[in-house]
Amino acid sequence: MQLFLDTANIQEIREGVRWGVISGVTTNPSLAAAEGIGDSGSYKAAVQEIADLLDGPISVEVVSQDAAGMIAEGREIAEWIPNPWVKIPSTAAGFEAISVLSRDGIKINQTLCFSVNQALLGAQAGSTAVSPFVGRLDDIGQEGMELVAEIVSLFRDYQIDTKVLAASIRHPLHCTLAARAGADIATVPYKILAQMAQHPLTDAGMTRFLADWEKAGSA
Ligand code: G3P
Repeated sequence: MQLFLDTANIQEIREGVRWGVISGVTTNPSLAAAEGIGDSGSYKAAVQEIADLLDGPISVEVVSQDAAGMIAEGREIAEWIPNPWVKIPSTAAGFEAISVLSRDGIKINQTLCFSVNQALLGAQAGSTAVSPFVGRLDDIGQEGMELVAEIVSLFRDYQIDTKVLAASIRHPLHCTLAARAGADIATVPYKILAQMAQHPLTDAGMTRFLADWEKAGSA
């Protein structure tokens, strides 16, 4: 399973890329707003800065609600950087936009997916990846990871090559479970990436190795 960083924060992306563990980045209007980005010009500049840091796909979301607007925005975003995935919501207008943009050869990250049926529709329309939102389903008392597992299993059965991208990841266990469920990608906030690297026994082991080493050196 590949890991993408779910952030528009350039420092976080720089750090993740330095670790050599990040294959892509996902952004959305809320993540952009958290960095003070609120218009298409500054979103473009931020995305171009991110693209200078890594070759992998960078997901950039449209804000139009209607198909014509999404298609126009998607075509524009596709020109911003070398490896864009245009994020389109799982709505009727979204499926129309996905089918048009995918036929143009533009890669699509179908976002805000909350059901198997939305995933099936997106795959038929030509989504490159579909993003089930795990944490937001958990929030309403539904097991979000079950949706990931169900989509993975159906896509395998029907040999659908749309990737399954586990999103709305809220804690490190979500990441482990997404990998077990067979997700192709999980997109994680930086805080969770950092938590994934940590284990108290690793820290304790390093302390003990160092203490033994110093004791032997001073004997
Ligand atoms: O990848 C989608 C993500 O940004 C949404 O996460 O935590 O707002 O549900 P969250």
